[in-house]
Amino acid sequence: MKRIVGILLGVLLLAAAVLLAVRLVPRETKPEQPALLFRYADNQPEGYPTTLAADYFAELVEERTDGKIGIRVFPDSVLGNEISVFRQMQFGGIDFARLSVSTLSEFVPEISILQLPYLFTDAEHMWRVLDGEIGEQLLDTIRPFGLVGMSWFDAGSRNIYTKTPVKCLDDMKRLRIRVQESDFLSRMVSLWGAVPEKISYESVYSALQTGKIDGAENNWPSYEATGHYEVAPYYLLDAHSRLPEVQLISRNALDEISALGDEYVEIVLQCAAESARYERELWKERETRSETVVRESGCIVTELSEEEKTRFQEAVAPIYEEFSGKSAELIRRIQEE
Ligand code: GCU
Repeated sequence: MKRIVGILLGVLLLAAAVLLAVRLVPRETKPEQPALLFRYADNQPEGYPTTLAADYFAELVEERTDGKIGIRVFPDSVLGNEISVFRQMQFGGIDFARLSVSTLSEFVPEISILQLPYLFTDAEHMWRVLDGEIGEQLLDTIRPFGLVGMSWFDAGSRNIYTKTPVKCLDDMKRLRIRVQESDFLSRMVSLWGAVPEKISYESVYSALQTGKIDGAENNWPSYEATGHYEVAPYYLLDAHSRLPEVQLISRNALDEISALGDEYVEIVLQCAAESARYERELWKERETRSETVVRESGCIVTELSEEEKTRFQEAVAPIYEEFSGKSAELIRRIQEE
């Protein structure tokens, strides 16, 4: 009898403990597995402004959806180069990415207008355009291609860098200059008298090192983060273009999120806007830091004289003439902004 009472008591105590444990678990616990788990691609390394902003975006989304949407960021081109990332996004293989407008322009012709050399007078001019109606309009042109542009990221202005000194337009003659995989940028470089080489971002360092190319062009942070400054130490401040970048979501991912509820789409878009603001802040800091690293390493940074700047600019003027009709009107609106 004593044994039975003992067992009953034990069972009761156990049940009480289980009940207590259940009550002690907070009601708002996050689900163990997110309902949706997405992949986000970026070709820049960890710690770069765009990838830090991607991490921030992923954290915000996870937090504000109570863990229902998880986003894993893959930096450093782990998911492929930008051209391949665009294609993978079209069929839903990758859900989010940050891509250069040059890459986008290969698929979305309207975006190409942003590649026009010397289009913006400075960063403020570019942001007036992108943060306004034209920026919205340009993001909308991506949608028919299976991707949706969520926000604009800063990528500063781009300058030419070479293995041998370049001080004026004449020095560019016959130099083999790497460009992104873009006909438009190839044309720009040809108009300077140089020979364009389309090479994907990941392969530029070795192309410079082995002498396959004589130079390339990019912003301060990319020039520094890739180590290109170690093998092409002449940086010419011609600021020929400002190529902003776009944070994107695939249509597939957007549909899946809509199926959870429209409020989730709102959250994701809001987090994209906040992460873009964060990226712009990080960009300014990184630009200064990269410039310091490059200068302190002994690279030769050359300012172009006003006269030479004009020569560089005039050499590429035919590109403007080649943009006709509807684009000519948009160019005018951008210039007047
Ligand atoms: C920048 C940009 C990259 C792009 C690269 C390039 O670094 O951030 O997205 O791929 O330019 O020149 O290819």
